Amino acid sequence: MIRKCMFPVGGYGTRFLPATKALPKEMLPVVNKPLVQYGVEEAIEAGLNEIGFVTGRGKRAIADHFDISYELEHQISGSNKEEFLKSIRYVMDEGIFSFTRQKEMKGLGHAILCGETLIGNEPFGVILADDLCVPEDGMENVLAQMVKVFNQFRCSIVAVMEVPEDEIHKYGVIDGEEMKDGLYRVKSMVEKPAKEDAPSNLAVIGRYILTPDIFDILRNTPPGKNNEIQLTDALMTQAQDGVVMAYRLKGKRFDCGSVEGFVEATNYCFENLYKKGLLT
Ligand code: UTP
Repeated sequence: MIRKCMFPVGGYGTRFLPATKALPKEMLPVVNKPLVQYGVEEAIEAGLNEIGFVTGRGKRAIADHFDISYELEHQISGSNKEEFLKSIRYVMDEGIFSFTRQKEMKGLGHAILCGETLIGNEPFGVILADDLCVPEDGMENVLAQMVKVFNQFRCSIVAVMEVPEDEIHKYGVIDGEEMKDGLYRVKSMVEKPAKEDAPSNLAVIGRYILTPDIFDILRNTPPGKNNEIQLTDALMTQAQDGVVMAYRLKGKRFDCGSVEGFVEATNYCFENLYKKGLLT
C-alpha cells in the first residue's frame, strides 16, 4: 500500500513574477482554493495521507496553510463563515504533514532526493501542485488512477498526456511501447526535446509513483539539462535497468505554472465546479 505523497514545492515560479516574489506559487488560488490544497486533497482521496513537502526559502505560507490559525478560528467560531473553512479543516484532520528543505534549487530530481528523509524505503506518490488535474466525470482522481496501475505492476509510474507538436519542447517526453490502451512500457525518455527530436507526443506531467530505488539512482545522476538534476534522467535509468510504465491520464490537466494555464484552470473550475457548488 502506498501511504506517502511528496510535494516538491521549492521552485521559484519565475513565470508568475511579480506575484510570486513573496508568495509561493503553490499558494496562488484557483477560484477560492490554493493550488497546493487541490493537490493535497487529491493525495488524501487516493489514500496517501502522509504528505511530505520539500520546500525552499519563502515558502512558509504553505506550512501555515495546513496548520491551525487560532486567531481566525476564534474570530469566526459559531458564525456562518465557518462553512468556508470546511475543506481545509477536512484536509488538516485527514493528513499528516512533514517538511524538509531543498537549500539550493538544483532541479526536480534534486528536490526529490532531498525528500528521501520523509519517505524512507517505500514506494511513494509525487504531485507537482502547479499541475492541476481534474478527473473525467465519474472517474476517480488521477493519482488514484495511478495507484491502481501501481498495484498491478509494482514499478514506477509516470502520468502522460498527448500534447500538440508545438508544445512538446516544454515537457519530458517518453518513447514507449503501448501494452494496452493508454498504458505504455517506457523505453526511453528525453527532457524538453526540440519537436523534431521528440520520440512521441506523450508528455510527462506532474504526477508520479516512484519506487524507492529512485533515490540511489538520483544520487548517481549527474546534472543534465539546465545543469539541474533531472528526474527524467533518473527515470530513464530506471526504465533501462528495470521497468517504468507510463499511464495516459483520464481527465483534464492544467499547467498552472504558466499564466495561460492558470487562467484556463480558473475559468474551468469557476464554471464547472464553483458555480455547481462543488468547490468548497
Ligand atoms: P518548474 O519547472 O515549474 O520550475 O518546476 P519553477 O521554478 O517552479 O517555475 P518557473 O519555471 O521559474 O516559473 C517544476 C516543479 O518542480 C519543483 C517546482 O516547485 C515545481 O513543482 N522544483 C523545481 C523544485 O521543487 N525544486 C527545483 O529545484 C526545481
